[in-house]
Amino acid sequence: MKYLTPGPIQLPDFVLRAIYRQPAFHRSEEFRASLKSVLEKLGKVYTGTPVVMPGTGTLAVDTMVYNYVEPGDKVLAVIYGEFGRRLSLSLRTRGAEVRELTSEEPPPPDVIEDELRKMGGAKAIAVVHNETSMGMAHKELGKVADVAKAYGALLLVDSVSGMPAEPLPPGIDVVATASHKAFMAPPGAAILYVNAEPRAKLGVPPAMDLRPYLKVPSTLDTPYTPPISVIYALEASLEYILGIGLAKYTELHVERMNLLYGGVKLKPVPKPSHRSNTVAAFYCNDVKRALAALREAGYVASAGMGPYKDKVIRVGVMGDVAREDILKVAEVLNNVA
Ligand SMILES: Cc1ncc(COP(=O)(O)O)c(C=O)c1O
Repeated sequence: MKYLTPGPIQLPDFVLRAIYRQPAFHRSEEFRASLKSVLEKLGKVYTGTPVVMPGTGTLAVDTMVYNYVEPGDKVLAVIYGEFGRRLSLSLRTRGAEVRELTSEEPPPPDVIEDELRKMGGAKAIAVVHNETSMGMAHKELGKVADVAKAYGALLLVDSVSGMPAEPLPPGIDVVATASHKAFMAPPGAAILYVNAEPRAKLGVPPAMDLRPYLKVPSTLDTPYTPPISVIYALEASLEYILGIGLAKYTELHVERMNLLYGGVKLKPVPKPSHRSNTVAAFYCNDVKRALAALREAGYVASAGMGPYKDKVIRVGVMGDVAREDILKVAEVLNNVA
């Protein structure tokens, strides 16, 4: 089976080989060398202090929310799919006063600005960069960052399935992501980029408190047991990603997407201008049959989410995915449709 899923993804052999070893003691020099290498490499992907902690994407998002939002804070949640709804849930669980801006596709910066103006006094804008459930990405986060800055609000971004294959403009205060999607490693590491001092004074559970993690790049001493095997995997995957260069890595995904959208005759969910580089989504009359046909051909893809569970099929192009895989998936889907 080959996994053309929205994550976890099909890992290349060199990443699998990197984890096939005894995890070192995390207070040893040997482990510190791997951690240092991963933090330095992550530092080349985006600005700010990189944080790697045990967990998945949800934990990265909750950690971002709990460290930067306090109960009663006014926050604008931008929602254009299932993960936007989950981001809003995290904010409401934290006790924030959330105003939801909900639409069927990524709202333009001026619509976000309008909403922010109407709210008054917003402490943060929270938005998903790459909405995995819809195969859509917000391509104008640079302008959203300008809006946030102009209104004195933080910009908190969930890029769990975007980074580093979907470009992220500078100026974002906190980015939450994870190891098992475009970073091409197994699940197990929550990753954050911190460009602003954590704000919350109370109510942050110790395992999610970013403050001790911000010291790790200089001390190489993690507050708790880190996801050691995933760090080995990240060392290998980041070596590869940075080796080919971030621009080329992005381009590789765009080419795969063009091939997929060009080949599949089903109706795409996103408009071309909103297409994610990592996950494609198509309307499909018989999702179960399409997924079964793909399995028969040796591929695992995914159903839609939430209201689109039985109406949409999603195909990920991250990881060890060849041109032939994409052409085969397109052929199978076209035969089912
Ligand atoms: C955009 C986005 N946010 C958050 C998550 C949650 O990540 P996880 O399932 O690793 O907890 C996902 C997972 O698919 C995602 O795609």
